[in-house]
Amino acid sequence: MAAPALASSAQVDEALAARGLQSVLAPARRAGADAVAALLQDLAGVDWELLDRQRAALAAPPPAAPCPLEPPELLPPPARATPENEAAARRGWEALRAGRVAVATVAGGQASRLGFDAPKGTFPLAPVSGASLFQMLAGQVRRLRELSGAALPWIIQTGPENHADTHRFLERHNWFHLRRDSVLLVCQGTLPALSADGQLLLAAPDRLFRNPDGHGGFYAALSGSGALAELRRRGVDTLFSCQVDNALVRMGDPVFLGHHLGRGADMSAKVVEKTDPGEKVGMLARCGGRHVVLEYSDLPPELAARRAADGSLLYRAGNIAIHAFTLSFVEAMAGAQLPLHLARKKVRALDAGGQPVERDAVKFETFVFDAMPLARCVAVQLVERDEEFAPLKNRDGVDSIRTAREALDRRARRWCAAALPQLRLAEHGWVEIEPGLAYDAADLRSRAGEVELVACGRLLRRR
Ligand code: UD1
Repeated sequence: MAAPALASSAQVDEALAARGLQSVLAPARRAGADAVAALLQDLAGVDWELLDRQRAALAAPPPAAPCPLEPPELLPPPARATPENEAAARRGWEALRAGRVAVATVAGGQASRLGFDAPKGTFPLAPVSGASLFQMLAGQVRRLRELSGAALPWIIQTGPENHADTHRFLERHNWFHLRRDSVLLVCQGTLPALSADGQLLLAAPDRLFRNPDGHGGFYAALSGSGALAELRRRGVDTLFSCQVDNALVRMGDPVFLGHHLGRGADMSAKVVEKTDPGEKVGMLARCGGRHVVLEYSDLPPELAARRAADGSLLYRAGNIAIHAFTLSFVEAMAGAQLPLHLARKKVRALDAGGQPVERDAVKFETFVFDAMPLARCVAVQLVERDEEFAPLKNRDGVDSIRTAREALDRRARRWCAAALPQLRLAEHGWVEIEPGLAYDAADLRSRAGEVELVACGRLLRRR
């Protein structure tokens, strides 16, 4: 979805007329010339071909599960000391040291399920220090830079609804002491929402009703903002990406990157073993020689529950939205037609008479992982959930603040027991390793002489 060139007013009129959409101008005409000019300006940015795909998607039946499916080949977890993992680690570190890698985090959207009225990345998740998700990620970026000696650019993709707040937050925290030009903030785009019969909706007489284009907008945002060109200029050819809300994510994992590079993959993915068929994670499978992710909301329960001969789930590869890409694949995806996902919602938009009302609308989104079937080669690595996946989605219950903190606490205790067994950690309450102190347990061991335990045995930090 490359951004279209802006159209002239005459071209807009023509495009509207060709599609029977001219009534969208009526409220602006009633409001006056300024409103008409502003709306035409807004309409000039519409990608009409994509709009035609949106309108066609309204009539299309819901996507059937692509069949026949097969489970993907899974590489063993990075911590397992196999010769392949060791070779991958060497290759990954080499790429990191050579400055060929950048990391990216998708952080758009609203944290509505979390009930948090601010960008999700600003949520103070760390159990003892109260550090935000962004600070935890920034700590890892900083430590990886120290270990690799490379610049390791960090791209944060925001959305139109949280871009300004994210920028303000990072400013206020002085970009967590990462060089300002080493963090690239990129905003994803929007798509017009439609009525069920395919008409454009208005947020105001002079403005279309739009919604963020989903994290699949990442590709076009990176390309359109110039970030991709900038990464190339800095010598980067490989991108690691993750979502902002995984408390245990291992940013820029060298073993994963090494497998991705060693296999010559266009796009790679990490997955966790799904044990509950109803878990809200996408399912990664193979279909017709390609890799696909079936999103949990589109997954037929019968398919999710299918068992292998040994009783385990047949489709156990749960997508945790951690990927590696070649930069050229990211570039190609900026112009690709990713599938559109439809969400039927009530929104506040104008009615036919130009009055604001609650009305039905269809919102459209694309997803990062829908690019996977377009990749010629994909490496899929199975990772240990306890080490790498603790999503923060809900206020309470599953995938909540409490479960993410428990996962951080368990991992911190495990790393300390393995690396610094002489430490006397608090027996009760949360334990935390300060963001950026260590990349993994082995790294923690190497820092034994530099750390101290404070807050009654609950926070391990740099002395
Ligand atoms: C997501 C994945 C799912 C995966 C699970 C793992 C999608 C559609 N599904 O589910 O396959 O198993 O995470 O935790 O992603 N975001 C944007 N822009 C947007 C919308 C979201 O950048 O327009 C970002 C959010 O900041 C967040 C991430 O994408 O980091 C995930 O979005 P969310 O809507 O929470 O996806 P899930 O339904 O949890």
